[in-house]
Amino acid sequence: MVPFFRRFSHALIERNLLLLGVLTLITISIGGLVQVVPLFTVESTIERVHGVRPYTPLELMGREIYVREGCYLCHSQMVRPFRDEAERYGHYSLAAESMYDRPFQWGSKRTGPDLARVGGRYSDDWHAMHLRDPRSLVPESIMPSYPFLDRPLSGVSVTERMKTMRAVGVPYTDEQIARAEADLAAQANPNVDGSGLTQRYARARQGVFDGDERRVTEMDALVAYLQMLGTLVDFTDVQPDAVKQR
Ligand code: HEC
Repeated sequence: MVPFFRRFSHALIERNLLLLGVLTLITISIGGLVQVVPLFTVESTIERVHGVRPYTPLELMGREIYVREGCYLCHSQMVRPFRDEAERYGHYSLAAESMYDRPFQWGSKRTGPDLARVGGRYSDDWHAMHLRDPRSLVPESIMPSYPFLDRPLSGVSVTERMKTMRAVGVPYTDEQIARAEADLAAQANPNVDGSGLTQRYARARQGVFDGDERRVTEMDALVAYLQMLGTLVDFTDVQPDAVKQR
């Protein structure tokens, strides 16, 4: 026993570069396998839930502004499965809820509160006022003001953006892409017939998000996006074990 043990002693391994390399590789691969192998036994790591759909054209443009302005630098969109988080923000985030996010907006910093479930918590007016001047509503706020969001929504066409999203895996249909411009305008103006919009996007809500229905602004898009965050999943219907049942 002793000679065998001595042959594989530390001194031997540390002096033999090749042996050290091979043994290091073996040790690391065990760690890697332990992480990866369980994933081979499940068909999908995304639970099956009802209600999650791709963003409407207006929400998608709002999301682009959210990314452009770097809101993710101060806000996360990920309610973690801890009791204090669930009591403050609501049900913990499900993987399915960000399955159409390219890129996802989980974030890693909370200078401000988590926004994963902010939808419906305030009125549209509150959001527009808060974005124009956060301190008018929350005097101690350190959030920057975004008054320039009241400019018309322009830039790259929403149709092109939806095509790009489809190229990376978001299942927009041909009809949704063909009707993108009309759906975008309809969501920002409740006077327009929105039946096509709600038929293409379940539970899409029309509104005068920025308080002025005459034109579609960046504010309309961003508030429409914020107001749908975390509102799609029907939590009476979630099956956390769906992955195992398949
Ligand atoms: C410098 C950090 C910072 C940035 C950047 C920032 N925020 Fe905030 N945000 C905060 C802080 C702090 C609060 C809490 C105080 C308040 O309500 O104003 C907050 C609050 C909020 C709230 C209210 C949340 C709640 O549950 O009460 C919303 C909505 C929000 N921010 C949206 C945004 C959006 C959209 C952007 C990007 C256009 C953004 N924020 C950029 C720091 C930031």
